Amino acid sequence: MIPVNEPLLGKRELEYVTECVRGGWVSSAGRFIEEFEQGWAGYCGRRYGVALCNGTAALQVAVAALNLQPGDEVVMPTFTIISCAQAVVYASGVPVLVDSDPHTYCMDVNQIADRIGPRTQAIMAVHIYGHPVDMDPVLELAEKYGLAVVEDAAEAHGAEYLSGRDGSHPTRQRCGSFGALSCFSFYANKRITTGEGGMVLTDDPELAAKASSLRNLCFQPGRRFYHEELGFNFRMTNLQAALGLAQLERMDQIVARKRWMGMEYTRRLQGVPGLELPVEEPWARSVYWMYGVVVSEETGMDATEFSQRLAERGVDTRPFFLGMHEQPVFQQRGLFQGESYPVAERIARQGLYLPSGLALTEEQLAHVAEAVREVLTS
Ligand SMILES: Cc1ncc(COP(=O)(O)O)c(C=O)c1O
Repeated sequence: MIPVNEPLLGKRELEYVTECVRGGWVSSAGRFIEEFEQGWAGYCGRRYGVALCNGTAALQVAVAALNLQPGDEVVMPTFTIISCAQAVVYASGVPVLVDSDPHTYCMDVNQIADRIGPRTQAIMAVHIYGHPVDMDPVLELAEKYGLAVVEDAAEAHGAEYLSGRDGSHPTRQRCGSFGALSCFSFYANKRITTGEGGMVLTDDPELAAKASSLRNLCFQPGRRFYHEELGFNFRMTNLQAALGLAQLERMDQIVARKRWMGMEYTRRLQGVPGLELPVEEPWARSVYWMYGVVVSEETGMDATEFSQRLAERGVDTRPFFLGMHEQPVFQQRGLFQGESYPVAERIARQGLYLPSGLALTEEQLAHVAEAVREVLTS
């Protein structure tokens, strides 16, 4: 079976991890943590990085740093991972949802304004499957209504957005550089992986200090074991950071490989009947984190059947996200009652992603594309 993801780890990772083991720096102190934080923040065009144990923790720390009051609202896409919405719920806030753009699968930014109300404190923008959210309208609304922006760039390492495209000075900016705080995951299926891992980035020294304190149980520098706030133990280990730093050194190669993979899939799959392929908007530079496709209803198949037929041909796949409004855990809490988001519902039913890991070979990619073609044309 061709796996959906297989990380590509190299000699440099082994060298750095060996250094941790030899020196005994295997816990949450050691040179690699700071180097990885600074390196990743610098790569994304940010001032501060706070390394964390996973991306879910990064979202939780970012939302906790906003100091929401009970009932405060955060506007976010329904089509995302539960980590986004649960971070808001854990902070006593209320997630307020918008539907997806039918082409990029990212939040439909035209729906945000209608969801802003007197309790709104923030907008959470989540780049989906490697394609950036259209950030300018998000930032303009945030500015207009005095809201914080939290960016979830877990799936968009190295992706770029053309900011100010209607003005005279458009600028390319990396995902992870927008808003008050941005969040990353370094899980094994992410483009840089530390096994498990995450990071919060910011340009604001106070938010950086707050995130760093929240990560470490809100210990006080002057008086240890004395706490004025509740925090978490969400620390990253030096071992994890060693892996991350090694991959950061070859980030350009990683992004180039992922872009090649995305474009190669598109070249091979273009024109296959009943198949919708991922787009790249003119203002975006996608990294095709996962190559997500939507099978049209006219084929008579949904994603579950499509996935089974691909599995019979040796191809592993994963279904798309199920929207937050369709999650029993939130419905049981009385959230999102009677709400419907047709685009997210459709892509949840009809969408899946194909093998997209860095270790995928050209032969494997060709096999996957051929399997897709066969299922849809036979
Ligand atoms: C958009 C997004 N945000 C957050 C996360 C959570 O990251 P982690 O699995 O490291 O907790 C993921 C995980 O896949 C994700 O896709």
